[in-house]
Amino acid sequence: MQTIAIYHNKGGVGKTTTAINLAAAFRKMGQRVLLIDLDSQANSSFGTGLVKFQFEEEDDLVGRNVYQLLESVDFNFIPDLVRKSSGFNQPEIDVIPAHISLIEKQSKLSAFVNTRWRLDKKIQQVKDDYDIVILDAPPARDLYAEIALIAADYLIIPSDMKPFANQGLNNVKSFISEVNETRSAIDKSPLEVLGVLASKILPNTRYLTHTFPRQRDSVINRYGFPILETIIYERVSLAHCVNQTISVGMFDIPNPTSIFEFDEACESAKEFRSLAQEVMNKLGV
Ligand SMILES: Nc1ncnc2c1ncn2[C@@H]1O[C@H](COP(=O)(O)OP(=O)(O)OP(=O)(O)O)[C@@H](O)[C@H]1O
Ligand SMILES: [Mg+2]
Repeated sequence: MQTIAIYHNKGGVGKTTTAINLAAAFRKMGQRVLLIDLDSQANSSFGTGLVKFQFEEEDDLVGRNVYQLLESVDFNFIPDLVRKSSGFNQPEIDVIPAHISLIEKQSKLSAFVNTRWRLDKKIQQVKDDYDIVILDAPPARDLYAEIALIAADYLIIPSDMKPFANQGLNNVKSFISEVNETRSAIDKSPLEVLGVLASKILPNTRYLTHTFPRQRDSVINRYGFPILETIIYERVSLAHCVNQTISVGMFDIPNPTSIFEFDEACESAKEFRSLAQEVMNKLGV
């Protein structure tokens, strides 16, 4: 089992899109995949079809989400809380959803230092059940991001390569140093950065010829991070597949799918297959 966190403290750079479609790509390759949503926005939970309701009173995630996994060492384990994604991908993937209430619960969880490695311990208990665990982290330097980076073996940092995302890499770097201090205290080896993933990149020849190469070089030379070879371009199909709906009676119900169920021959699907293959090669799977 290998655990990969998808993290950048900059918002909107494609972390969730990467987390859910990389999970789907691995699943299509026959891997047993668990996706854990650690972001109170719950976008990975939505994107994998677990938020198929329109009204709060129908919310069935509130009492069964990643918070219950984090709140105690002695009860609520992954098999008690896991769900199958719904209509998202064939085969479906296992998901531990997040919930908006994670925000208000953060201070309670922060009071106990052991909360930080509780997820790590609970993931270890299912190491024979999964080949790959993917953690979708929030765009913050908060407790949930720390929990993700402590539990992970590897890190992928999606970046749209724009100046603020790239300058933010300094924050990611100092956060990794802090996390590594905690990892060393619990006898865990340092987090391995698989690379910065160029994400939401404009497929525009002028940009790709002149601006993009300089931005890539600065990730390596100025911020000292490796860069993944695969590029995830900005494409309407990727934004579309998460916004699909179906009509049920009077209502339109969210019906998101992975990029592969949306159109397995499209360019984005090819890019995510190639990302999954590149990550596999780096992991030696
Ligand atoms: N390659 C892409 N092409 C087109 N749209 C994209 C692409 N990647 C992401 N998007 C869209 O951009 C928005 C932000 O993407 P996403 O939610 O994956 O980013 P994020 O980094 O997880 O955001 P947050 O920091 O809020 O968690 C979404 O509407 C998503 O559909
Ligand atoms: Mg996100």
